[in-house]
Amino acid sequence: MFTECTADLDRVGPDRFTQRVDGVPGKRGRAGRSGIIAAFRYSAGAMNPVSEARVREILGGITDPHSGQDIVASGALRGIGVSAENVSIDLQLGYPALSWQPILAARVRAALEAEPGIAHAAVGVSSRVASHRVQEGLTPLPNVRNIIAVASGKGGVGKSTVSANLALALHAEGASVGLLDADIYGPSQPRMLGLSGKPDSPDGQHIEPKRNHGIQAMSIGFLIEEDTPMIWRGPMVTQALQQLLSETQWVDLDYLVIDLPPGTGDIQLTLCQRVPVSAAVIVTTPQDIALLDARKALKMFEKVNVPVLGIVENMATHVCTNCGHEEAIFGNGGGSRMAEQYGVPLLGSLPLDMRIREQADGGTPTVAAMPASDLAERYREIARNASGRLSVRARNKSIQFPKIVIQNT
Ligand SMILES: Nc1ncnc2c1ncn2[C@@H]1O[C@H](COP(=O)(O)OP(=O)(O)O)[C@@H](O)[C@H]1O
Ligand SMILES: [Mg+2]
Repeated sequence: MFTECTADLDRVGPDRFTQRVDGVPGKRGRAGRSGIIAAFRYSAGAMNPVSEARVREILGGITDPHSGQDIVASGALRGIGVSAENVSIDLQLGYPALSWQPILAARVRAALEAEPGIAHAAVGVSSRVASHRVQEGLTPLPNVRNIIAVASGKGGVGKSTVSANLALALHAEGASVGLLDADIYGPSQPRMLGLSGKPDSPDGQHIEPKRNHGIQAMSIGFLIEEDTPMIWRGPMVTQALQQLLSETQWVDLDYLVIDLPPGTGDIQLTLCQRVPVSAAVIVTTPQDIALLDARKALKMFEKVNVPVLGIVENMATHVCTNCGHEEAIFGNGGGSRMAEQYGVPLLGSLPLDMRIREQADGGTPTVAAMPASDLAERYREIARNASGRLSVRARNKSIQFPKIVIQNT
């Protein structure tokens, strides 16, 4: 994936430079005697243009909330051009950020133009997703750059709803995304994504993912009848899921989101050992009992050396459908306390909101149903926070990037 945004490119280019060479001085082009004085002052300044080191220092003071690092430390800085009082900057983020690129570009430009030696700054921001390291001894899937596992300590906390909206939010930010429903005991992604029927298998060996709302999806729910009782034993579950994962013909994914079976038993542990995942996200509700289970999930990923990108706190507050009043019915700040205690970020919180349930259960989750809403923005922020944290982790050197799609924004 490759997306691009440029702040103020119209202000770059030969015109401005010609203007300066022509001797029209000053930022604000004053006339008359004071203009001449300003011209002298200004050209005196221009003889001491800003240094590249100073530009780098300014950029190093700007933190990207999604990666948690400043834009130099995160590796986003690709190039600096300094020509007298004009500066141009090229930034490349390692995560999808269509809605954030223009905001970051404007912030960087403002920070640079606040510097006395800089008259104009042109800032280009693009995104490109790399493949990140998986557990030792495992090989990443060929068409999938990163697998993100979504887990919860127990069922019913909204893991599937978060998985679906997270996948759609990564897509909304510009990434190519797949969703694998691995919840063998209660596959709910067919319903949440509005998909049904058996998947196609043109060669009788591989299966094609189904598509809706711009993402690719596969679920054990496509392959079995809805009312078939599933009395599977551990090894069968793991084998079935590994098969589903490797036999699905994913097409060039930046991220494959896996909706794991709830809980932290042997099946989940085995899956986390066998599936080449780059990172995990843990979903919890704020009650103490759910947080206790979420801690077990954290420990499970620690055991198998899978980094946890952070915690999503679901149903953190309740929004009254009648009056809009928001109340923390389960108590305040459970997710952030847990995040603090275990040194993992809180990626975001979602309220208990009837629209989230209605839309997910109706086949068009909130991010697709109401893209302009505050709720959808919360999911997109969670997606940027998760993928941003992943972007600063170690890369997988073995995967090449033959295909680059350029989208102009
Ligand atoms: N933030 C939320 N607000 C309202 N309803 C929600 C929210 N998150 C999930 N739900 C609903 O709660 C139920 C359980 O969610 P689900 O995602 O299936 O949980 P899990 O996968 O953890 O078992 C579903 O009906 C879902 O629509
Ligand atoms: Mg579920």
